[in-house]
Amino acid sequence: MHQYPLIIDGQYNIGSICTSQQCAAGRGSKVAMRWINSNLEKTDYTFDELNNESNKFANVLKNLGFQKGDIFFTFLPKSSEQIFSFLGTLKIQAIAGTLFSNFGEESLLDRLGDSKAKGVITKKSLYKKILSISEKLPELKTIIITDINEHISGNVLSYSLLMKEASGNFDVALTSADTPSVLHYTSGSTGKPKGVLHLHKSVLLQNYTSKHILQLNENEIYWCTADQGWVTGTSYGIIGPWSLGVTQIHFGGAYDADIWMNLIENEKITIWYTAPTALRMLMREDSSIFLKHDLSRLKHIFSVGEPLNPEVINWSRELLKKDIYDTWFQTETGSIMIANRPGLPVKSGSMGKPADILEAAIISDEGKILNNKQVGNLCVKAGWDSMFRTYLNNEDIYNKKFKNGYYYTGDLAYRDEDGYYWFVGRNDDVINTAGHLISPFEIESALLEIPEIAESGVIGAPDDILFEKVVAYIRLKDQFSWSDDLEMNVRLRLANKLSSIATPQEIKIIKEIPKNKSGKIMRRVLKAWYMGTDPGDISTLDV
Ligand code: PRX
Repeated sequence: MHQYPLIIDGQYNIGSICTSQQCAAGRGSKVAMRWINSNLEKTDYTFDELNNESNKFANVLKNLGFQKGDIFFTFLPKSSEQIFSFLGTLKIQAIAGTLFSNFGEESLLDRLGDSKAKGVITKKSLYKKILSISEKLPELKTIIITDINEHISGNVLSYSLLMKEASGNFDVALTSADTPSVLHYTSGSTGKPKGVLHLHKSVLLQNYTSKHILQLNENEIYWCTADQGWVTGTSYGIIGPWSLGVTQIHFGGAYDADIWMNLIENEKITIWYTAPTALRMLMREDSSIFLKHDLSRLKHIFSVGEPLNPEVINWSRELLKKDIYDTWFQTETGSIMIANRPGLPVKSGSMGKPADILEAAIISDEGKILNNKQVGNLCVKAGWDSMFRTYLNNEDIYNKKFKNGYYYTGDLAYRDEDGYYWFVGRNDDVINTAGHLISPFEIESALLEIPEIAESGVIGAPDDILFEKVVAYIRLKDQFSWSDDLEMNVRLRLANKLSSIATPQEIKIIKEIPKNKSGKIMRRVLKAWYMGTDPGDISTLDV
């Protein structure tokens, strides 16, 4: 394990490292977070206030009987309450799970049910979704709502009332390196989403990579656009930067090129971490939007989540006069593993090189370590500090991801003669749309619950903006025919059950879904059909 000065007296607690430890280091009155809501109203929180608010939330949970190891989720859009409750949960050594606020009922049930979560914090408009599945969640005892002034019942409680009554003092118990910390669910190509569990020591590598790859030091003003429902939003929108005492801008509004450029200019943002989809959207905007802003304080732009096209890097070099540094990681890895970074010449289209304290390798399916320029499984030598500890309730699947001391990431890649890694694709059918991993299996299952649908097969197809779009092939039961109403119904059902990001961009009605002899849907054939390429010998194909 790497020892960095941020661990003091054996205290690994992420909650305290990000707050009280910053205050103790003399940053109490420094702005930790400038929260900017969608109406562009600003509220500053110093590290003292971040500490105080998260202490209060820790006391709220403690007073409600929550204990070390209990699972508590946030189900909120980007907000200060999401951040205070996330850090407060970690302070009592409960496990902090986060849920994307766009999730529908089925997505929520899968995650809250599998983890046997004991509590969740949400807002009034999202509470309805939880209420509709609450009978199936017997362990979910406590629901805290941020925007009600009175408690609704003994277990549906007002955040503001609870916080008003809670003390701002909380002694964080000494937390060992291996104490479970953060829980994110991730989708695979088969089965239900899996709960990726991290440990408090992950802060070591989140801190290290924030410093050495994102180049954060305490004078920077940093903006990470990722939502806290996903790993980038917690590892690099909360933990890494605050473990370094950095001021973060958190913006609750949606994509708007002009507003975003205004933010960068007016908030004097120096380091910006965003995603290829957003950058591709910006690239389509009129160049005057960028030219009218003074972006000279912005030193570095980083990107994560999907391949970053060379055109975007060229656009940025020409118009913004800056490189964009692509970085690669996963929910499972907890922090950046492979990256471009200042000081390393950017090869457009490459993910860069592994962080200097990691070892990556390209390995064949047979377990042979491959040479440069050979495509194979992208693997990381096991044992890095932010390595996930397990897939909750799925230790078998977890163990299968490790062979001969290497973690198999599920991505295919190659390394060039200079040691740069190049992403080739996934070795499964998971769809990456706008940086979100979507399970074709989950969409197919949800489609099958619609009475008119007999069979379906779902694939990801190339998209100029989203990297991949969701395409659903559907076979209707004989007595039904396709109509605008049915299409609307299908879309609504998927958005309500899963999320709007899992709702297909394209739906194609076909007479037969290709399946192999054992009845498995041959998504590769569907993809070949979509792309107009040769699906090969269908009789021997497997999925
Ligand atoms: O396939 C890779 C892709 O996103 C996957 C991880 O997704 P998730 O666990 O949701 O975490 C996303 C945020 C870190 C990877 O297995 N991916 C991530 N970064 C890149 C990427 N694909 C290509 N280039 C990247 N830079």
